[in-house]
Amino acid sequence: MRHLLSTADLPRQAATALLDTAEALKKSLLGREVHKLPTLRGRTVVTLFYEQSTRTRASFEIAGKWMSADVVNISAGESSVTKGESLRDTAFTLAAMGADCVVIRHPASGAAHRLADWVPTHVINAGDGSHQHPTQALLDAATLRDRLGTLNGRTVTIVGDVLHSRVARSNIDLLITLGAHVHLVAPPTLLPWGVENWGIRQAHGWPVTVGHDLDAALPGTDAVMLLRVQAERMRGQFFPSAREYSINYGLTEARLALLPEHAVVLHPGPMLRGMEIAHSVADSPRAAITEQVRNGVHVRMAVLYHLLAAQEDQP
Ligand code: CP
Repeated sequence: MRHLLSTADLPRQAATALLDTAEALKKSLLGREVHKLPTLRGRTVVTLFYEQSTRTRASFEIAGKWMSADVVNISAGESSVTKGESLRDTAFTLAAMGADCVVIRHPASGAAHRLADWVPTHVINAGDGSHQHPTQALLDAATLRDRLGTLNGRTVTIVGDVLHSRVARSNIDLLITLGAHVHLVAPPTLLPWGVENWGIRQAHGWPVTVGHDLDAALPGTDAVMLLRVQAERMRGQFFPSAREYSINYGLTEARLALLPEHAVVLHPGPMLRGMEIAHSVADSPRAAITEQVRNGVHVRMAVLYHLLAAQEDQP
């Protein structure tokens, strides 16, 4: 694997290999006082973020450091980007300094793909506009495997702002690749046109189902994934008020009770508590939100390993 840009072109075997590596890394670090493996010694990972982040950026940094890579963090707002430097020139500058891998987050859909065309380094997409966020989908899949055993034949209900969500796009692609059924629940204004057919973009895929009634969907769900309402990408009003959104699409305690006993609650974060999810639901044992964050480190270690080290280990 040279880059990780999207889950749409990630075959089942490659996705499963990444998840297996993440699980093995997690087990190998369990109970260790010192989280340090020598795997990426001498490699340089640069995180280049044009948008804010807490989870993705910090976990890539931790993942690199736990594998002994040198990690350099660049925020566009504190870099020469503010002086007018282009993405292409910034990327060439980092490559010229010896970066082995660039982890990029950018508000423009397709930015990571452009970068991968330009520079000789490995490129990881840490979120491009409303397009893709592949490591988020992988850490969600890792968390669902931990809780449910397998994704094959499971039903995952994704709720909320599908229109602006790269998390939703990456998850739909990966969940269908891994054999799950995806049901979308959202206000009609927050569903992209033709979304039903997204599932059939995958080899051997099937359509996603779409509805607007969360209460009706919950009893048949193995996992419910709440999306963040992406106000920063909205031009105009997509629903009347936060209160009305919460009434129709918020996961309240009453709605939690409609889920089967084994069902898991996910949220990629950052959460809008009280609107997308009730405080008590977010903090309940049914929610795997902290596990998602923890798995994010192991999944990003696995991705860095597969890009930067795995080929060298092959005979
Ligand atoms: N889920 C996610 O991408 O969070 P951050 O924006 O904090 O990285």
